[in-house]
Amino acid sequence: MTDTHRQLHVIDHPIIADMLRQVRDRRTSAAVFRRLLGQVGALLAYEATRDLPTEPADVDTPLETMAARRLRMPVTVVPILRAGLGMADGIHDLLPDARFGHIGLARNEQTLQATSYYQKLPADIAAGPVLLVDPMLATGGSAASAAALLRQRRCPDIRLICLVAAPEGVQKLTQACPDIPIYSGALDRQLNEKGYILPGLGDAGDRLFGTEG
Ligand code: PRP
Ligand code: URA
Repeated sequence: MTDTHRQLHVIDHPIIADMLRQVRDRRTSAAVFRRLLGQVGALLAYEATRDLPTEPADVDTPLETMAARRLRMPVTVVPILRAGLGMADGIHDLLPDARFGHIGLARNEQTLQATSYYQKLPADIAAGPVLLVDPMLATGGSAASAAALLRQRRCPDIRLICLVAAPEGVQKLTQACPDIPIYSGALDRQLNEKGYILPGLGDAGDRLFGTEG
């Protein structure tokens, strides 16, 4: 692992590997693609939240009261529109009490620069950890822009969850935000001349919402 990859956690798990194979397959239908994105999103979020702080909380079982634990701080899930929505559903199942924020970013296909078109975040988002969700970390421009917006809101604990990362994106985000860990299902080879991840899975938003072409 290079120094710029020190914040990268590639989650090496047989179930994730098998799901990723299906997600990458060009013949996978939009319906199966959507289901898999949600499922892998939940598995990656499980790993990304492994060290969330908890606090004591008693619980009354049908038989007696016992000492248990609950999450100490409110978690906010922030999918980057559009493709982040595909992973967010599964993460919502894992964390039903999480708040949701949304950041809309579109990548210009020529310049590869991400432009912000929408933002709606909980007022007290900085009160707890933020799971920033986007299946693709390509140039890293979208993730870095979203992280900058969250930094403006003074979020102290931001964790990026993505399905597939390119070395270029990992480097860009790590340089811009060295304290943001990246949890990814895979680290792919490189970007092509159009900024797509190779081997990748194609355009995640288009495959999710049937807008290709
Ligand atoms: C895609 C993808 C990421 C971004 C990654 O979104 O979902 O948000 O590109 O590329 P980057 O790391 O080079 O910024 P896109 O802008 O195509 O929008 P969409 O999700 O609405 O399709
Ligand atoms: N966005 C995608 O959806 N796919 C890529 O490979 C790169 C950016």
